[in-house]
Amino acid sequence: MLSPSEVMTRLVALCKRRGFVFPASEIYGGLNGFWDFGPLGVQLKNRLRDNWWRAMVECPPDGPDGRPLSIVGLDSAIIQHPRTWEASGHVGGFADPMQTCRKCKKLVRSDHIADLYRELGKPLPESQPLPCPYCGGDLTEPRQFNLMFESRVGAVEDDASKVYLRPETAQGIFLNYKNVLDTSRVKIPFGVAQIGKSFRNEVTPRNFIFRTREFEQMEMEFFCAPEDGMTWYEFWVAERLRWWESVGVARANLFPHVIPADEVAHYSKGTTDIEYKYPFTDPHFGELEGVAYRTDYDLTQHQTFSKTPLDYIDQENSRRYIPHVIEPASGLTRGVLVLLCEGYRYDESRASPEWLKIKPSLAPITCGIFPLVNKDGMPEVAEKLYRDLRRRFVCQYDPKQSIGKRYARMDEAGTPFCVTVDGTTLTDQTVTIRNRDTAQQERVALSQVEAYITARLGRE
Ligand code: GAP
Repeated sequence: MLSPSEVMTRLVALCKRRGFVFPASEIYGGLNGFWDFGPLGVQLKNRLRDNWWRAMVECPPDGPDGRPLSIVGLDSAIIQHPRTWEASGHVGGFADPMQTCRKCKKLVRSDHIADLYRELGKPLPESQPLPCPYCGGDLTEPRQFNLMFESRVGAVEDDASKVYLRPETAQGIFLNYKNVLDTSRVKIPFGVAQIGKSFRNEVTPRNFIFRTREFEQMEMEFFCAPEDGMTWYEFWVAERLRWWESVGVARANLFPHVIPADEVAHYSKGTTDIEYKYPFTDPHFGELEGVAYRTDYDLTQHQTFSKTPLDYIDQENSRRYIPHVIEPASGLTRGVLVLLCEGYRYDESRASPEWLKIKPSLAPITCGIFPLVNKDGMPEVAEKLYRDLRRRFVCQYDPKQSIGKRYARMDEAGTPFCVTVDGTTLTDQTVTIRNRDTAQQERVALSQVEAYITARLGRE
């Protein structure tokens, strides 16, 4: 059994070796807090993204009353009017307490010091305040550090040209709430969902792609009548847990952490973090998604700051109100990390000890196709199969190296099926299909390969 920190070290190495995740700007020495997704990583990320979009926008679940929910999509600009972030509270309050070590000069987030001791495998000192977790040096007093990245719009560099890269996708939804109401047929209750990049100048980006300075979020704002807020909040906590399970995360590795009332934002009537047991938090859990009951805070703030009425006119009941909002907000890139941690297996009894058990429909490559040897008529048959199957599935054709090495590569990529054309294929038109999870092979007629894979993907 590998220790959790060995798992993390091996997983990061596998991600690099197989092209899931690379350090950004690597040839220039890297840039702390930024990562690039390689060919397999972008495929996995897109699949998780598409699964969320399908489950949220295209085919959302039924609500508590059994009626289908109405949720529409949005893709708003990353840079919005700077007043947006004054209204949302980010200009004034989106800051982390930061301390600098007087000895080693490293920056640490005050609320991460205890975690850092744990991650570095050092015992937590009894003394308060805590010394630097890296070198034991003295830390400066905490200072508030705003996490928003600033930029300029246009050629003139003055205060009026200052803008921010969005630190969350959510505010773009609030700014478009009225546009959506006026242009779609949605009525309360309804949701607006968005997936996209967000930026935070994190003080201590760490743990691979867990906390980065550029990341992707999948957020949905669900607008409802004030008296129904609590019901929808409970509904979305349960629903989001169910969805993470549906993409292959074991329930035992998920934990709904109800944030104590004295720790939630002043405007929130309840927040539950959906946490995951990452190797670097094990045996504890760390945040994966937040489900927050945000009341009417955001819309009221934007109504005040923009002087645009944002109330909802309920014609059936002849009343007007600012809707309440429930927000399930998760990290897409953090979700990819969860799928990788959840799927990572190390089993020395296998010919290829390292493999990824990713749900087949989410795996970056669905099917590897190999001629056993690159001659004797096998490549022709395998290539024809590849041309046929790639129309239905993401396939990779690989004629090189020993068959064992090719299986090992596919295991590390999490590919659920490998089809091999061998000598027998040429006489009886059958191939072997190797199952990633069992490493067992079975013979299947060439003409049945597509149906075989379709049936197994459909059965999930
Ligand atoms: N609109 C609410 C909001 O943004 P959040 O808890 O700050 O709430 C939601 O962020 C999710 O976004 C987190 O649960 C996490 O999955 C992801 N996230 C936040 N900061 C991140 C970072 N620096 N790197 C990667 N993912 C991050």
